[in-house]
Amino acid sequence: MSLIPYEMARPFLFGLDPENAHDLTITALANSQRTPLSCLYSNLRIKDSVKLAGLIFPNRVGLAAGLDKNAKCIDALNSIGFGFVEVGTVTPLAQKGNPKPRMFRLEKANALINRLGFNNDGLDAFIKNVKESNLYQQKINPSIHREERMLLGLNIGKNSITPIENATDDYITCLKGVYPYADYITLNISSPNTPNLRDLQTDNGLDNLLRIVSIQREELAQSHGYQTPIFVKIAPDLNKEQVKVIAIALQNHKMDGVIATNTTLSRDKVIGLPYSQEIGGLSGTPVLHMSNEIIRQFRQALGATFPIIGVGGILSPDDALSKIQAGADVVQIYTGLIYKGPELVTHTAQRLKDTNKS
Ligand code: FNR
Repeated sequence: MSLIPYEMARPFLFGLDPENAHDLTITALANSQRTPLSCLYSNLRIKDSVKLAGLIFPNRVGLAAGLDKNAKCIDALNSIGFGFVEVGTVTPLAQKGNPKPRMFRLEKANALINRLGFNNDGLDAFIKNVKESNLYQQKINPSIHREERMLLGLNIGKNSITPIENATDDYITCLKGVYPYADYITLNISSPNTPNLRDLQTDNGLDNLLRIVSIQREELAQSHGYQTPIFVKIAPDLNKEQVKVIAIALQNHKMDGVIATNTTLSRDKVIGLPYSQEIGGLSGTPVLHMSNEIIRQFRQALGATFPIIGVGGILSPDDALSKIQAGADVVQIYTGLIYKGPELVTHTAQRLKDTNKS
């Protein structure tokens, strides 16, 4: 059990501007990881291993992308007890993102709006940080039981200055760069904060991207001697037809899984709340049912065995269970961590384990 209950830290963090609170947390985690101070937030990892996309997930609760964009605190996140952690989104070149303020708390709705715009230190710095982590050392020198090692997902995107017609170049640059270091790689084509990025979810855009990624993946698999699974992360703002089109493209190009979903542009669930009119992606409780509905549609379109990672609006173990019931195999959390703290991870993993048994 961690030494500091999150209820004590939260009022202090919520007294700060949301992005400052985030930056302070990342710095504290990065500086304390691999030191005795990490016992302040360490938890035993719940053992509930599940095989998916050829990988062994030690439990079914992961961290969603965007919290640790530069892969600076992988070992701290490993101590919290996640089964898998996804870092990024990384872009080929460092970029500042949108002007501040660009992150807002909608406290009454257990929600956030962000328009960060892929602020990150770029691919080289990202890879350097991954290589320095103990987790990566465990991957290349396996000393602990394979079923107990937390998995690392590396989430890739495009620079905002790259024209959307050339987006594939950025994904390929990142794919080649991260390939040797990832347990799985996520193509993020669903952030609402990079102009036109979501066009990549449409018929031709997606087909073209996935065709080129598949070819590149074959080459990488040949040269490295192993195939790293590739997942595609999609938006919740899709209609049934769009879900079907994406499902067909995922299968045609032999993608290994879908991550559903990113943040939403919809404001239906937060009308009238402070900050609800801010531009950006809405996350937390208001996306729970939307993203569950998308998961349900993907499960129907993709069949029983295609891997689905469910994300969006998990603030309690029951929310996570609703995603599994909608068709997800494993789940990820971001906003829930801000509102409920790291205890949510172990409570959720334990609940999913218990439910699996009964
Ligand atoms: C995100 N999310 C995100 N996703 C992604 O693929 N790359 C990214 O860089 C980011 N950045 C990001 C920043 C912030 C501040 C938030 C709140 C979210 C989306 C995230 O991974 C997740 O898909 C959604 O937030 C929905 O899950 P939650 O937050 O409701 O659990």
